[in-house]
Amino acid sequence: MFRFGVDYYPEHWPEERWPIDAKLMAEAGMNVVRLAEFAWSKMEPHDGSYDFEWLDRAISILSVNNIQVILGTPTASPPPWLMTQYPELFRVRDNGMRVTYGNRRTYCPNHPTYHAYTSRIVRAMAEHYAEHPSVIGWQIDNELGERCYCPVCQQAFQQWLHACYKSLDALNEAWGTIFWSHVYTDWRQIPVPALTGGSPNPGLALDFYRFCSDSYVAYQKMQVDLIRERAPQHFITHNFMGFRYDQINYFDLARDLDFVAWDSYPRMQWTFAKDVDPVDAALSADAMRGLKHQNFWMMEQQAGQGGWEMVSVAPRPGELRLWAYQSIAHGADGMIFFRWRTARFGTEQYWHGLLDHDGTPSRRYDEIKQMGAEIQRLGDTIHGAEVKPEVAMMMSYDSRFAFQIQQNNPQFTYPNHFDQFYRGLLHAGVTVDIVAPTDDLSRYRLVIVPAMYVTSQEAADNLRHFAQRGGVVAVTQRTGVKDEANRVVNQRLPGLLAELCGVEVEEYDSLPAEMQNCIEFTFPDLPTNPLTVGVWCDVLKPTSAGVVGRYTQDYYADKPAITMNTLGSGRVIYIGTMGDHIFYNVIAAWLIKQAGMLPLLTVPEGVEATERWQGDQRLLFVLNHSAQEQTLKLDAHYTDLLTSTLQNGTTRIGARDLLILTEAVEE
Ligand code: GAL
Repeated sequence: MFRFGVDYYPEHWPEERWPIDAKLMAEAGMNVVRLAEFAWSKMEPHDGSYDFEWLDRAISILSVNNIQVILGTPTASPPPWLMTQYPELFRVRDNGMRVTYGNRRTYCPNHPTYHAYTSRIVRAMAEHYAEHPSVIGWQIDNELGERCYCPVCQQAFQQWLHACYKSLDALNEAWGTIFWSHVYTDWRQIPVPALTGGSPNPGLALDFYRFCSDSYVAYQKMQVDLIRERAPQHFITHNFMGFRYDQINYFDLARDLDFVAWDSYPRMQWTFAKDVDPVDAALSADAMRGLKHQNFWMMEQQAGQGGWEMVSVAPRPGELRLWAYQSIAHGADGMIFFRWRTARFGTEQYWHGLLDHDGTPSRRYDEIKQMGAEIQRLGDTIHGAEVKPEVAMMMSYDSRFAFQIQQNNPQFTYPNHFDQFYRGLLHAGVTVDIVAPTDDLSRYRLVIVPAMYVTSQEAADNLRHFAQRGGVVAVTQRTGVKDEANRVVNQRLPGLLAELCGVEVEEYDSLPAEMQNCIEFTFPDLPTNPLTVGVWCDVLKPTSAGVVGRYTQDYYADKPAITMNTLGSGRVIYIGTMGDHIFYNVIAAWLIKQAGMLPLLTVPEGVEATERWQGDQRLLFVLNHSAQEQTLKLDAHYTDLLTSTLQNGTTRIGARDLLILTEAVEE
């Protein structure tokens, strides 16, 4: 069943209002709500005394309206009585300052006392609700993350290192602690890489980031185990933060969950912009689907304008529904909007829900009610339909973390570079999977490896097998630079991938914004005019690869910048420099051709096409993100499932509207 609903905070409103809310939800086609995720002080008002009666009453009012419940564990926001009793539970920031009470996500994820209190409240909730007929699943905590640098974490880090390296000699060797005389002779000497220590040893810092990630994975697992033991029939998920969040290895965090859920806010108060960039949400959705290679849920899909101190631009009419369908087009099997009614108090007073502060249904409610009716009709057709891309982009958290430690160039960030390439692929009209470096690649034709700075032998082997079996691989600059200890490899770059790429990096140049170069292509199907490049220039020396493009300027004019190596029917392309969106559009379109693929559908600017497959039935989503009506040429006879109309030849899509097309059955 396709679940459709909202995040609801009944504790914010008088009980007399609850039946009205539940009725309005049901009228909007809603069948699920998430409850209780920040209600610790209401469920455990005093140390050890629990109160679930209010929640029971809220759930029973919802259930009268056929609305089921996902319970959030409340641990993202501990109550004042707990944090006053144990101030050492507050997280310490990288600048050495301890967080104080006032917001949320304030706790240290390794503190045994916090674990003890977490276990108690989670166990109490799980025991109370394990058999409740209305409860279907759980969300652990809320948007886990934020590194902690406190003494408890330092000690846990030392133990983590001990388990990992076994001996100090091995650790000293791996980190190269002989540099600046950092040779450790006791595990207790090992610091955390706080800002107060200055630019850290890269090996130590990468291990610390891995450790912090593991800490949250373990903290989540502790909660998962407690619930699973008591309520094995319930699903367990967590609300992830999309592609941009990068303090936790999300592949690891997803492992213990039944499925991934995530939160999407295209119009935020922090990105105070006129236009929404639909590619951001597309990339996040694809990254979240890739975590388990499975469809996901939206746990928080934007329902109104965002706002804490500032108030964001209001979602334009049609946008909420369009964004929600965009999530569905990329693999959402559940749709929950954040939040039901706009709070009258608290930090998020201006984070608007479907209802305004006064509880009156607004145009936003009406828009989602329309979608609710559509989902009641189409939910079964959509639910479980697979997204099946033939292109993958490899995402490496080790590389992401390592670039956080050493950015290499002030104009470079791993997420932005990844995003640039992804945009090129979307522009070329294909759907994309985001995969981990050791994931099975057999279903793809093309694999992009953006700046895989830290390259493991396993990842290198994975790519070699893929290319040997006829796949096309494209590797970009700064791949293969580091080993897993974050040391620079002792060989010509791209290190473990040099042979596969058939190329060696003779030297490299890191450029400021005011210095650029150009490349000229020397290969068929590529533009004849030179393209501007910059930020980073690898000067290449092919060993077995052919040259695709050469620099035109500076002392490395004429030297190769892009090469292609052939392995049987497989090809490995090395792209040693970076460009603007035109560069990535050109490269992506060329790679798609190299891999023998065609665009899904030719669409005008501002329109996105993506597909899901329900068995053999193809669902082609065509989303008009622009504020104008758009005209589209279709390549076959289709039925639009939303309007039940036949569509062929030239069709029109209204501003911020969409079509869900399926091949029309000939009568
Ligand atoms: C999310 C969070 C919600 C709410 C929302 C709006 O990140 O999970 O609890 O805070 O943002 O700020």
